[in-house]
Amino acid sequence: MSRSGKVTVVGAGFYGSTTALRLAEYDIFETVVLTDIVEGKPEGLALDINQSRSVEGFETKVIGATTTAEGGGYEKTANSDVVVITAGLPRKPGMSRMDLIGVNAGIVRGVAENIAKHSPNAVIIVVSNPLDEMTALAQIATNFPKNRVMGQAGMLDTARFTNFVAEKVGVAVSAVATLTLGSHGETMVPVPSRCTVNGKPLADILKADEIAELVDRTRNGGAEIVGLLKTGSAYYAPSAAAARMAKAVIEDSKAVMPVCAWVDGQYGISGVYLGVEAMIGKSGVVKVVETDLTADELASLKVAAEAVRAKQADVLTL
Ligand code: LAC
Repeated sequence: MSRSGKVTVVGAGFYGSTTALRLAEYDIFETVVLTDIVEGKPEGLALDINQSRSVEGFETKVIGATTTAEGGGYEKTANSDVVVITAGLPRKPGMSRMDLIGVNAGIVRGVAENIAKHSPNAVIIVVSNPLDEMTALAQIATNFPKNRVMGQAGMLDTARFTNFVAEKVGVAVSAVATLTLGSHGETMVPVPSRCTVNGKPLADILKADEIAELVDRTRNGGAEIVGLLKTGSAYYAPSAAAARMAKAVIEDSKAVMPVCAWVDGQYGISGVYLGVEAMIGKSGVVKVVETDLTADELASLKVAAEAVRAKQADVLTL
């Protein structure tokens, strides 16, 4: 098997370390770099993952790097093809993702600047919250072309929706297709008109109030887990989604997936990072792919765009 490329995961919390593990286990990258500001943590986790290689059967090498806010340690990330930014604080029970905007803006800005210095050609995948705003901020801080900066949220929200539908209907998750667009927050737009079970429209299988309940649970999917964990937020499904995006980049797969991407005219919306379906390849977002929406879904997407636009303007001042 041929391996190529280098992916860096910034932040060795549960989200970052699980993402690094998934990426290493794909066995398609030459190198996975895991960084953190907690001295020794990324090196320790890298050693641990490397020691699992002979058992799990992969050869990708994981390198740990302790970094500093001043840019120390970033040389180990140099010339990464893909960088996943997980740095920042997670929510505590009762907090919205937006409550993190002040503290995480400072962290994400600093990380993005250091990454840009050492990996000027990387594709950046942001997962820090509030997601849509942190993605916009990373683009500003790196000054990378907008197609080379995107955020992970849509695939996670879609995966949650799929899981809830499969459990409700009592079918395999593989029999279900769902879609969510919009923001990774209050104005998330689950798209029931695009959801199917064994190819049949969801509306033929569940009643409208049952669908509304699943939509609502999807919209609150992250908070439900934060409430149960009491400390920290979800990371198994989030890391699965982020790792798949990085895989699509390095393989130049041109897979279409819901991501937070720069929208420039699609759906009549312009100049904002928003959850949409996009084709992903080695240049990041190859193109935003528009799908048919009902009038209500389109209206909700426009509401989401304006809500996110207002907050994305705020991050400039943070
Ligand atoms: C969630 C966080 C990671 O939705 O945004 O679980």
